[in-house]
Amino acid sequence: MSSTLKKKRKDLVSTIKRHQEAYYLSDQPKISDEAYDQLVAELFSLDQKLNISRSSTEKTLGVGHKKRDEFLAVEHSSPMLSLDNVFSFDELDLFFKKVTDFIKKNGLDFSPDYSAEIKLDGVAVSLTYVNGELKTAATRGDGLVGEDITDNVMSMIGVPHVLHLKGKQRRTVKFFDNSVLEIRGEVVFLKKDFERFNKYQEKSSEKLFANPRNAAAGSLRQLDASITMSRPLTFIAHGVGEINGVVDDTFKNHSSCLEFMESVGFKIIRPRVKGGQPGDIKTYVNKISDIRESLPVEIDGVVVKIENYELQHKLGSTVRAPRFAIAYKLPSETAITEVLDIDVQVGRFGTLTPVARLKTVSIGGVNIANATLHNEDELRKKGVKIGDEVEVRRAGDVIPEVIRTINTSNSKSNKNVFFEMPKFCPSCGGKTERLEGEVARRCVSGKKCPAQLEQAFVHFVSKKAMNIDGLGTKLIQQLIREKLVNSFDDIYRLNCFQLEKLDKFGTKSAQNLIDSIDRSRDTTPAKFLYALGIRHVGLQTAKSICDALNRFEELFSLPLEKLALINDIGPVVISSVSNFFKTRENLDLTDRLLNEINFKKEVFNKRGVFAGKNIVFTGTLKTLKRTLAQELVQKNGGTFSGTVNKKTDFCVVGEKAGSKARSALKMKVKVITENEFLAMIDQNIR
Ligand code: IVH
Repeated sequence: MSSTLKKKRKDLVSTIKRHQEAYYLSDQPKISDEAYDQLVAELFSLDQKLNISRSSTEKTLGVGHKKRDEFLAVEHSSPMLSLDNVFSFDELDLFFKKVTDFIKKNGLDFSPDYSAEIKLDGVAVSLTYVNGELKTAATRGDGLVGEDITDNVMSMIGVPHVLHLKGKQRRTVKFFDNSVLEIRGEVVFLKKDFERFNKYQEKSSEKLFANPRNAAAGSLRQLDASITMSRPLTFIAHGVGEINGVVDDTFKNHSSCLEFMESVGFKIIRPRVKGGQPGDIKTYVNKISDIRESLPVEIDGVVVKIENYELQHKLGSTVRAPRFAIAYKLPSETAITEVLDIDVQVGRFGTLTPVARLKTVSIGGVNIANATLHNEDELRKKGVKIGDEVEVRRAGDVIPEVIRTINTSNSKSNKNVFFEMPKFCPSCGGKTERLEGEVARRCVSGKKCPAQLEQAFVHFVSKKAMNIDGLGTKLIQQLIREKLVNSFDDIYRLNCFQLEKLDKFGTKSAQNLIDSIDRSRDTTPAKFLYALGIRHVGLQTAKSICDALNRFEELFSLPLEKLALINDIGPVVISSVSNFFKTRENLDLTDRLLNEINFKKEVFNKRGVFAGKNIVFTGTLKTLKRTLAQELVQKNGGTFSGTVNKKTDFCVVGEKAGSKARSALKMKVKVITENEFLAMIDQNIR
């Protein structure tokens, strides 16, 4: 072994060990999972060059970390292993191939089915039940010996104290005397519990956790079990360890085993694949990667396992990981990098947001150079300073954010220099203020502030608003600088001649932009209202408001009490909308814009209190003739029919209402009187 390579290996191993300690022992990882996986991959490839066997490398890496001395030791009946990782479908195919090759080579009679589940980003725990009663709970530790956390799991969600067999199981499952059943799984903080818990910690000035996994690990390994019990942890089962003296066919394959676990009180993973083929597994991986954000727990991949336990046993394990399972790692959502600078951005309502300028880092294949620090308080709480190493998160479509500072001893930051939010707006130099009870500092210059004006334009042209393709931030800045636009309606008066004079504009690109501006003239009232950029009016709110209008102009003089009747809109929105339309400048702008745009034809016909609703009349109406009542329904956007069915929204009952009223009650259709029907029409804004 050359001495330089030897030295390189020694350093790499010690780096890996340091990170293992930070992750497993202190629950304070110093690098992202992705970066850790890279170090491991580097060690494997270095060892290959050095002719060090794979199993020696695996031994060096170990599984987890030695238990902490303060806890009692629990020896595992069989090692609690780690999993090998793959990062692409090609690598996953190699895993499938290894399995089929193994079957062929050994002349086995198996056609392998696979199960797939999400890989929970939590803490591995084993629960041992003797005669169906919970006896011990242990962490993984170094895989052979873990920490005794029996008291700590006692009040945990998803940990039954006694396994109660139900109905048919009583006949099929037998627990013999001193039977042992070991359930393995993951202790996690559900995302919603984590958010609530961290808020609570903040209120009580207690330690904040960077992510649900760290919170779960930190909460679980508490010497004072009452602390663990006070935290909302959940145990999710994903497999069995020792089975002794328990007889049942259930324990012949993974999926039925999970179903058994669920039936005796454990929580198991959903959605999952039960006994699928490689194609099903890949479809599942794609699906999970799409819905990752909406899952209730944080995950870091998908675990693929052989369904059949006999085949699992035949394949066996290495010292580190089973050969019958593999983890398909999804790209990490966080990365660690350095803060080069902290800037302040001014939003369209003047909010000043501190933004970290970062040493560019890739997260899930996207280069990230900026991340939000949200506001002054968040920045302080996280203690972020220029020169710090920070963990940055980018998930789905959300703006990347700094989630924590890494406490590294070699941090370049000057610990005494805290970033101060500017007292004057960095864009217009005007005054800023932070009102009592608000987290944001704000520039008070409104549209006179160039940054606010620019952001208002960016919003106006955006996809969900006027959707003007090809009019990006850079171009907006240029148009404002050249004084070609100052108010939104100026956009509709731009011409090719003006555009051609701009940087990087030719006749063709000028014409394309004009065409796209023209296309945006056809829009809907809701998109237009949203585009105006009224505070607190998102697209959905704009839709609710427009649904209640006959003509857009009604908004100009809509009394507050009528606004208050609109579904889904509360006092904050009401005062924001009414203040907007109280200002002469805004009224004039809206008027000028209405002259430039066209609403798609049928949009207002579908408005009205009964829009999209189906109504049935029964019995004799007191004041209205049946035909007039039906006409009123249509005028207010609804439809009527003669029989009550699943699609009926209201059943209006008059005198001597008969079977239709009874069917409505039975089908839980809302039954209203003629007076209530009339009141609904009256209350509607018209
Ligand atoms: S099966 C031999 N299934 O990931 C281990 N593990 O990185 C077989 N994990 O130690 C475990 N979700 O603690 C399995 N659905 C899942 C899992 C899962 C998370 C953990 C487990 C394991 C670690 C390996």
